[in-house]
Formats: sequence, structure tokens, C-alpha cells
Amino acid sequence: MTNGSPIPGDSAALGSASDSGLSGICCGVRLSSIRTVTLPCPAKLNVFLEVLGRRSDGYHELDTVMLRTQFCDMLTTQERTDGALQLRFSDATAESLQHGVPLDERNLILRAADALQKRAGVKLGADFILHKRIPPESGLAGGSSNAATALLALRQLWNLLISDSDLHEIAASLGSDINFLLSGARAAVCSSRGELVKPVPLRGTLFFAAVRPSAGNSTGAVFQGVEFSSPRRRSTEVVTCLAEGDGRRLASAMFNRLTVPAQNLNEEMTELMGAMQGLLKRPVFMSGSGSTVFVICESRAAALSDLRQIESRLRRKGWLLEV
Ligand code: C5P
Repeated sequence: MTNGSPIPGDSAALGSASDSGLSGICCGVRLSSIRTVTLPCPAKLNVFLEVLGRRSDGYHELDTVMLRTQFCDMLTTQERTDGALQLRFSDATAESLQHGVPLDERNLILRAADALQKRAGVKLGADFILHKRIPPESGLAGGSSNAATALLALRQLWNLLISDSDLHEIAASLGSDINFLLSGARAAVCSSRGELVKPVPLRGTLFFAAVRPSAGNSTGAVFQGVEFSSPRRRSTEVVTCLAEGDGRRLASAMFNRLTVPAQNLNEEMTELMGAMQGLLKRPVFMSGSGSTVFVICESRAAALSDLRQIESRLRRKGWLLEV
């Protein structure tokens, strides 16, 4: 179990895009005297989530399996010499996505940058330009991924000698999902409140068709509704399916304890899950605390076909999530 697993991009030199390792699609450039780096912020998907118990700190003890998908926001980070930290959306960010994502100190990017600035005693600042694609309150950890990427970008831009485990400590102080995204793992079992990351092997490529209802879910409210009457499940079977690349068996091992409490709070999501199940004749799952719901698909073509059906019959636009 580690909080300090290797972080991609650790030794990446500014300007050598391909060295960064984060999904292999980053680009770093040096623009005259402005130092800039652009990195992806991948969405995560939970294929297993059990709530083991309530903790005295108000959080819940988890056994969850997270996958890093190819669906990403992009974050451009530019160094500032005056110490200020500022965040704005890229021009390409859809207006609908800008609602619900604060650009002030409530945003995890600025909170992560501030925490790193203080921890490292840095006088430099940064401008962040966020190309948002992952909707907020979706159970895909978009905000957490933004924060993980901001930490990696700033370590590089500010030339900090701060260790992986120090970055993980900052991440854990800000939220429960940031450590997984910071770890760079493709798949991991995450425990404690989610911040302890143990990478696990994943064979082959997995494809999912995912849709989000218009209403998101509040993570705190969903956790409040968990009931502990049934016996607890464990992630062992899901981990085996991932190691063997057995998508079919995975479909019958996937589970999310937060589904029922989330359904109790989000009628639109409940209806969408029922409609998807009726249309595709397969079990439908929820990621994290929702409200993104998804099915596992046998191939990219099958996922695209599911998404076409969802669009034409349910009038919903979804995404192909590839892991
Ligand atoms: O860690 P994060 O800030 O994402 O969590 C948001 C909220 O979700 C917490 O304030 C807490 O109410 C709930 N939560 C929880 N147990 C967890 C993770 C989150 O109760 N393991």
C-alpha cells in the first residue's frame, strides 16, 4: 500500500513533451520568457466501490477500484514572477461546463497551488488555463484530476525538489481522489478514505459507454445515505478480472455501494439507469458518487454503437471511456 508511488512527469524537462508520461498526450513549450506547460487531467472511473464503515472524522472507509481513462480536461500552467495564482477557462470550454466550476479559491487547482507554494516556500506564482471537458459532480474526479495535474505542472515549472511523497501528502490534505490521479496508475485499489493507492495490473484495453444526467450528485450527501445492513463485499474478484483482462467476468463483478443512496437523491439518474438497462439489456453502473452511469462494452465499436443508441433513443449524449 503506498501513497508515494512513482509520479509520471517527475523528471520531465520543460519542453520535452513526450517525457511527461501522463497518458502520452502532453505538450510542454517554452514561449520566449514565459514558461508554460500543458498537461492532461484524466477522468477516473470506479468499477468497484464498497463502503466498509463510518469513521470518527466524518469520512467513510473504502475499498474501491479506480481506472484512469483517456477522457481528459487539459490544463495549461504558465509561470508568474509576482507570486499570484490565477485561474481561467480556455476559450474552447463549453459555457454549460463553466457553471458549477468556481474559478476562485474554492477550486482545487488554486488550493493545490497555494498548498504547494506554502510547503515549498516559493515566491513564484502561476496562471492556469483550464480546458474543461469533464463535468463537475459526475463521479469522474474532474476537479481532483485538475489538482493532481496542477501539482505536477508546478513542480516542473518552479523547478522544485519536492518528493513524490510530499506531493501525495498535499494531495491527501485536499481530497480523497487526488492521490490516485497523481500516482499515474492505470488501475488501482484505493483504501482508507480513498487516498491510499495500490496500483494493480490491467491487461488489454477496456471500453465503457458513459452518460451523465443533467443533475449532478453531491458526494457528501450521497455518503450520508449509505446503509450498512448487507454484508460487505471486497474488490478481490474485480482485481482478478482486470489482471486477466476479462471484461465479461468484470461485468458481473462490478459493484458500487453508493448507487442506492445516489438513486434516492437523483430521480433523473435512476430513470436513466432503468432506460439504459432496458435499451442495452445489460447491467448499468455508477461511477463514484455519480451522477455518471455506464455500461462496459466488448470493443470500441460496440461502445460507439451503444452511444449511438443512447443518443437516438434516449436523447442523451454520452462519452466513450477508454482505459
Ligand atoms: O474527499 P472529498 O473532498 O472528495 O470528499 C467530499 C465529501 O464526501 C466529504 O466531505 C465527505 O462528506 C464525503 N466522503 C466520505 N468518505 C470518503 C470520501 C468522501 O464520507 N471516503
